[in-house]
Amino acid sequence: MPTSIVLGTGRYLPDRCVTNAELERSMDTSDEWIRTRTGIEQRYWVTEGDVGAELAAKAATEALALAGLHATDLDAIVYATSTPDHFCPGNGVYLQRLLDAGTIPAIDVRTQCSGFVFALSVADAWIRCGMYRRILVVGQEIQSTRLDVSTAGRNTAVIFADGAGAVILGANEEAGRGILGFDLHADGQNAEKLWVDGPGAIYHPPVTQQALEAGKYFLSMDGREVFRHAVQRMPESVEAVLTAQGLTTTDIDLLIPHQANLRISEMVQRRLGLQDDQVYNNIQKFGNTTAGTIPIALDECVRSGRLTPGDLLVLTAFGSGFLWGSCVLRW
Ligand code: COA
Repeated sequence: MPTSIVLGTGRYLPDRCVTNAELERSMDTSDEWIRTRTGIEQRYWVTEGDVGAELAAKAATEALALAGLHATDLDAIVYATSTPDHFCPGNGVYLQRLLDAGTIPAIDVRTQCSGFVFALSVADAWIRCGMYRRILVVGQEIQSTRLDVSTAGRNTAVIFADGAGAVILGANEEAGRGILGFDLHADGQNAEKLWVDGPGAIYHPPVTQQALEAGKYFLSMDGREVFRHAVQRMPESVEAVLTAQGLTTTDIDLLIPHQANLRISEMVQRRLGLQDDQVYNNIQKFGNTTAGTIPIALDECVRSGRLTPGDLLVLTAFGSGFLWGSCVLRW
C-alpha cells in the first residue's frame, strides 16, 4: 500500500496588511492588549474584489511549481474552507476551473480550523487505497468580511484573518516515509461556542435586514471556552496520534499547531514538554487564518529549510465544531 508524501507547498496572502494600530481606530482595543492576549502583531485582510478561490489558486500554483507539476497532473482537489465564496457550489470547483485542471473531482471540507487536517486525511485515504496518486489539498479563508470591526466584535476581529495555503500530496512507495496516521474528533455539544448563525437554510428567507442588524452574520465566539478546550484537546490528540505509532513527544522534530492564538500554542507546547525549536508559530505575522494556518506555516517551514528528510512532523488543530485532530508524518 502506498503512503502519501508532500511533493510541494505554496501560500498566498492578500495584499492588505492590517496592523493592530489600524484596528485601534475602529474599536476600543490596543496593540498591547492584542499582543499580550493573542500574540498577533498584524494580519492580512482582503480588499473588495478579492475572491477566495483565486487566493487558493495562487497558493496552488506555487505548490505545483515546487513539485515540478502542472494542474493537469492532478487527480483530485480537496478544499478546506469555512468561508466559501458562495453557498453552493463549493470552492473546489472554482479552483479546478481557475487551474484549468480538466474534470478531476473537487470536494469541499467544512471543518473550520481543523479543516486542513481533515482534508489531508481524506486525500491520504484516497492515495492509500490506490484511487488517486496526486491530490491538491488546500486550506483557504476569507474571515475578514464576516467580522464586526466595532468594539462589540473585538474579541474575534483582532484574531481572525485571510489567506491560503496549499499542498500537493503524492503516492510514495519508499518504506518509512510519508503520513503515518491521524487522530480525528468532533464534539457537537459545543457547536455554538464558535459559529456563524446565518445566513442559513433554516431561516426563511436565509438573509434578512433584521438578521443583519442583529449581527447574525458575524463570527461569534466564547473565547474562554474555546481556550479551555483547545489547550486540552490538542495535546491529547498529539499524544494519541504518536502513541498509535509507538512514538512519543521526544520523537517530534517539528510540531505545527493550528495558529489559533499564541497563548494556546504556548500552553500546548508546555503540556507536551516541547522545546521552542520543536514548535513553529507564525500567528504574529498572519493572525488566525482558520483552515489556512497549517498549510501556510508548512510552506514557510519548507521554503526556509526548517524540515529535512527523516524529520518527524506533527500537525494539530482545534476549532469550531468543536472539531480537532492531528496528523503525524515522516518527512
Ligand atoms: N481589546 C480589548 N479588550 C478586549 C478585546 C480586545 N480586542 N477583546 C475582549 N476584550 C475585553 C472583554 O470585553 C473583557 O472585558 P470586560 O472584562 O470588561 O467584560 C476582557 O477583555 C476580558 O475578556 P475575556 O474574553 O475574558 O478575555 P480573555 O482573557 O479570555 O481573552 C481571548 C480573550 C479571545 C483572547 C481569549 O479568550 C482567547 O484567546 N480565546 C481563544 C480564542 C481562539 O483562539 N479562537 C480561535 C479558535 S480556532
